[in-house]
Amino acid sequence: DKGNHRHFMAKEIHEQPEVVGHTLASLVRFDTDEIELPELPFDFAEIPRLTISACGTAYYAGLVAKYWFERWARLPVEVDIASELRYRDAVLDEGGVSLFISQSGETADTLATLRHCREHGQKIISVVNVTESSIARESDLVLPTLAGPEIGVASTKAFTAQLTVLACLAIAAGKARGVIDEAREKELVGALNEVPRHMATLLRDEVPYEEIGHALSKADDVLYLGRGQNFPLAMEGALKLKEISYIHAEGYAAGELKHGPIALIDEKMPVIVIAPRDGLFDKTVSNMQEVAARGGQIILISDAESGEAGCALDGLLHVPPVDPFVAPLVYAIPIQLIAYHTATLMGTDVDQPRNLAKSVTVE
Ligand code: F6R
Repeated sequence: DKGNHRHFMAKEIHEQPEVVGHTLASLVRFDTDEIELPELPFDFAEIPRLTISACGTAYYAGLVAKYWFERWARLPVEVDIASELRYRDAVLDEGGVSLFISQSGETADTLATLRHCREHGQKIISVVNVTESSIARESDLVLPTLAGPEIGVASTKAFTAQLTVLACLAIAAGKARGVIDEAREKELVGALNEVPRHMATLLRDEVPYEEIGHALSKADDVLYLGRGQNFPLAMEGALKLKEISYIHAEGYAAGELKHGPIALIDEKMPVIVIAPRDGLFDKTVSNMQEVAARGGQIILISDAESGEAGCALDGLLHVPPVDPFVAPLVYAIPIQLIAYHTATLMGTDVDQPRNLAKSVTVE
């Protein structure tokens, strides 16, 4: 049932404040704002590193998590595409921990990689949406995402639910490793608690996204840029756009612009820049100016005002100011809405895009 939405994807995008709220409620004690996880089959204080593996959107959630685990738990993290880890001669130290992320819990490459890691003496934890799935069954510990059934082929609410679980896990790891204290934990959990409200604010007005959708629907190629923990989001934004609008899009780390992709920039090339006003904002602004100097069309997603961009913008998608820790969760909404509105204007089948299946159970 799509409710009063045209597509399942729209319904699922709009469910995110609730889904993130539910998922948080399952991991946070409401009275003390402390993270409360089920008993872990290992001790975060004792592991040398964490190996994360997944496919597609779930892989991008893993990449965001790497920034969180490193920043807040000082835990070395490796993130791999499941089909790569599986066939690579990866070094998996005995007693190490492997984490798998999957909405369906049935993705063939992720499942095979899980088995491969188990055979190499790894403890297995998984973040899954379908708890009666193969990946869930074969894990030592399952941390469920409470997203409810996701029907749209392009993943939306499962992604933000995955980020929610991973953020809580990173906080728990930080506490176990003595990197963050109770006060810091409360602050981070407080920022997470604000996410549903920020998401709801963004979802109240989709007109700006329709306007951007009109501009993008005429483009052949789109470049997405982001830095730090928003770099994986740039890749996720490009993936969403490719999947449902069939427009070619690439996500790049903003700092990589001058190492190649800048050659693509001309008046026909929209460049979408994800740049919250955080410690990296000025760096990204200078990349934006490089794009502007070459005539590229710039669409900025930010809490900054247009005057702070230092160059002319073709569009500004305004996001409420948020704690930088939770920016990937909040900025997921604009990138999903951009893809959705571009695709619906182009008349594609957003819930069932060509050539794609919801659950990829073959290699
Ligand atoms: C993108 C998308 C895919 C999945 C990927 C993994 O919108 O839906 O990239 O994220 O196929 O699927 P799961 O999470 O079921 O393992």
